[in-house]
Amino acid sequence: PQTFQQQPKNFPPGPRPLPLFGNLLHMDMTNPLKDFEKFAEQYGKIFSLYTGSKPYVFLNSFEVIKEALVTKAKDFSGRPQDCMTNHLTENKGVILADYGPHWKDHRRFALMTLRNFGLGKQSMEERILGEISHLVADLDKNAGGTVNPQNMFHNVASNIIGLVLFGSRFDYKNEFLQHYVQFITEISKILNGPWNVIYDTLPLLRILPLPFKKAFDHVKKLKNMNLSLLNEHKSTRVPGEPRDFIDCYLDELDKRKNDGSTFAEDQLIMYILDLQFAGTDTTSNTLLTAFLYLMNHPEVQAKCQKEIDGVLEGKDHASYEDRHNMPYTLAVIHEVQRVANTVPLSVFHCTTKDTELMGYNIPKGTVIIPNLTTVLKEEGQWKFPHEFNPANFLNEQGQFEKPEAFIPFSTGPRMCLGEGLARMELFLVFVTLLRRFQFVWPDDAGEPDYTPVYGVTLTPKPYRMHIRRRETVK
Ligand code: HEM
Repeated sequence: PQTFQQQPKNFPPGPRPLPLFGNLLHMDMTNPLKDFEKFAEQYGKIFSLYTGSKPYVFLNSFEVIKEALVTKAKDFSGRPQDCMTNHLTENKGVILADYGPHWKDHRRFALMTLRNFGLGKQSMEERILGEISHLVADLDKNAGGTVNPQNMFHNVASNIIGLVLFGSRFDYKNEFLQHYVQFITEISKILNGPWNVIYDTLPLLRILPLPFKKAFDHVKKLKNMNLSLLNEHKSTRVPGEPRDFIDCYLDELDKRKNDGSTFAEDQLIMYILDLQFAGTDTTSNTLLTAFLYLMNHPEVQAKCQKEIDGVLEGKDHASYEDRHNMPYTLAVIHEVQRVANTVPLSVFHCTTKDTELMGYNIPKGTVIIPNLTTVLKEEGQWKFPHEFNPANFLNEQGQFEKPEAFIPFSTGPRMCLGEGLARMELFLVFVTLLRRFQFVWPDDAGEPDYTPVYGVTLTPKPYRMHIRRRETVK
């Protein structure tokens, strides 16, 4: 990899790096998003920063991100291989796998399997609705009072992806589920945080028992938990009759035994963890953001409820198809995703060869950060870039319309492979809960604080919601 001492000619501009530290002292490592925004204003749509001597190139507009991740997808679809995330585990699953046959094979398998299990089809929908009924029961118990919904939403999201992966759900009080969720949310805060940067910048410190060790411990424990699930599946499966993702992978493994493929049981263990990790914190933090905004924009909540009541009149439950008749509600969900900015810096990419972008040279192995934050509020892309306003997704006739710059799932061949599942989950949870309950910002809660806690995913600060049963639903 290049270092700033050997900076290539014509590299993207940025603040001058200092020896040893690079640009570390130029930013607030507990939440550098504001600093990145400042640099984008100063240096433009593409700039570089160094941690120690290692360069990172930031892409800060829809146009640049599209040019890199879509038009020049082959050059920009790698994953960095020499940083903390990659040292967490030897097996790469799919999120951390570099561009190449292993990644391609595993990604294709996941997309196919998730589809067979009903992404966009009824059976997946039933699984999600089943899980939501447990959430509704929990909220119902608390009606008239206030709750902090954080664990609730984390558990629901974890159970839904769990139903896909290993076919069963855990009770919300189950210790296994609680540990799973806790480890995943903690890892999300450590990666992207200051300790991660220190790990990557100062390799000599890696052997010390510093807080980054916690992420390694958590990954080990999570992998052991997955191993026990895998073993349990192996003893109960009927080959050729898969019940879930694990069974499908084991079937695939049987088929590919002798073809020298990259499919292997230890890859599967990491793969399960990948999907749990990618599917839990993302969806639940988006839901947390949704209810934070809905409580503080009661007119938006009421308008959704009116639309939902009309479309669902006489029906037992919502179905994903109903979204076509709910343009306003759909617009609100998209607007929530836009302001939630749940994965602010996407997952880091890496160049697979020496390449060029917007006239700048970028050598092979350079870490590329698609700064989705800048796109989701980019002036010129949105009618109301800086305020919460569902009109960002509605045309003059009140029909739903999605601007091209809506890329919370990123774009190009590496874009989120759980998008279908996530969108179905968000819609069904959102609509079911709003139909049943009214959510009110508690009188004693003071002014809402919309500033999220930084990590791989952004998390709203803990809040409470007051729950009222709605009388319109039997
Ligand atoms: C990757 C966002 C839910 C599985 C990503 C990326 C983003 C993202 C920004 C990085 C793409 C890139 O590298 O360019 C989100 C958001 C979600 C969500 C905002 C929810 C609101 C899910 C769910 C799953 C999932 C439910 C589980 C099925 C993945 C996987 C990758 C990924 C496996 C890695 C893809 C690859 O490297 O090829 N997601 N995601 N995500 N997501 Fe999601």
